[in-house]
Amino acid sequence: MSDGAARPFPHRHLLGIEPLSREDILFLLDLADGYVELNRRPEKKLGLLRGLTQINLFFESSTRTRTSFELAGKRLGADVVNMSVSTSAIKKGETLLDTAMTLNAMHPDVLVVRHADSGAVALLARHVACAVINGGDGRHEHPTQALLDALTIRRRKGRIEGLIVAICGDIVHSRVARSNILLLTRLGARVRLVGPPTLVPPALAAYGVEVHHDMRRGLRDADIVMMLRLQTERMRGSFVPSTREYFRRYGLTWEKLEVARPDVLVMHPGPMNRGVEIDGVVADDIHRSAILDQVEMGVAVRMACLDALTRRLREAA
Ligand code: NCD
Repeated sequence: MSDGAARPFPHRHLLGIEPLSREDILFLLDLADGYVELNRRPEKKLGLLRGLTQINLFFESSTRTRTSFELAGKRLGADVVNMSVSTSAIKKGETLLDTAMTLNAMHPDVLVVRHADSGAVALLARHVACAVINGGDGRHEHPTQALLDALTIRRRKGRIEGLIVAICGDIVHSRVARSNILLLTRLGARVRLVGPPTLVPPALAAYGVEVHHDMRRGLRDADIVMMLRLQTERMRGSFVPSTREYFRRYGLTWEKLEVARPDVLVMHPGPMNRGVEIDGVVADDIHRSAILDQVEMGVAVRMACLDALTRRLREAA
């Protein structure tokens, strides 16, 4: 694999992009590049994680992220167990720590955790002996999503530094947006946040990004346009007048994209709501849309994260 692969990864857990240096991020992206090639071969399996146990603990529903982590673990040879836990009707703090202690007693080597509360994954990580990967916690962070987005951009554009990236839609409720803002600014991209003031409060400029409430201004000369879903499950009250009105003003159409660069790349983490934040014909255009690339890069990035976080264990064995 790449030259950087020999460098040790200095973190025990992957809880967010926040604690990662530029070098840590590049290390994971370089490692993931090698796994993209492996995943395109008919024989995709390595024995790197043989004997290790990975538990995917999802307190919030997920299709693509959970499947992606499951494939990543299996392709590296780990034993992978999926657990979906419903938190309704139980006191969340108690359940979380009880579950953590119970699983810890089974000696897993990696726990991948998704939870509806911001900070829940970090809390759990303090109570277990194994490596923990944050698969998304509330509106806080979703580090593997930001890494897979960065890998997609780097492979399609050849670089990240200096690119104009417009992240559009429901920023305030989005862990994907937060992790992407941290990662992309750390790698030298110019990030713009675009959406209505209810979903993109001007105070977000404190992250070192531009804030726009008008799509034409926000998308002008953009290299990358990243669309986000309206996260109604995290909204308390009304944030948009109606989905029809929202689509008219903020939905991504060919017409709105005209002001972006001619080679603009359209991205979306999924799940997509066609006709709400994005027009289906834009999402399906194989030249402009990188949405399926993102899914492919997701497996490779998660393999890289599993590889990096288990090196210590494997070297000690
Ligand atoms: C995102 C998530 O769960 O945060 N989805 C994903 O992981 N692919 C975004 C979303 O739910 O809209």
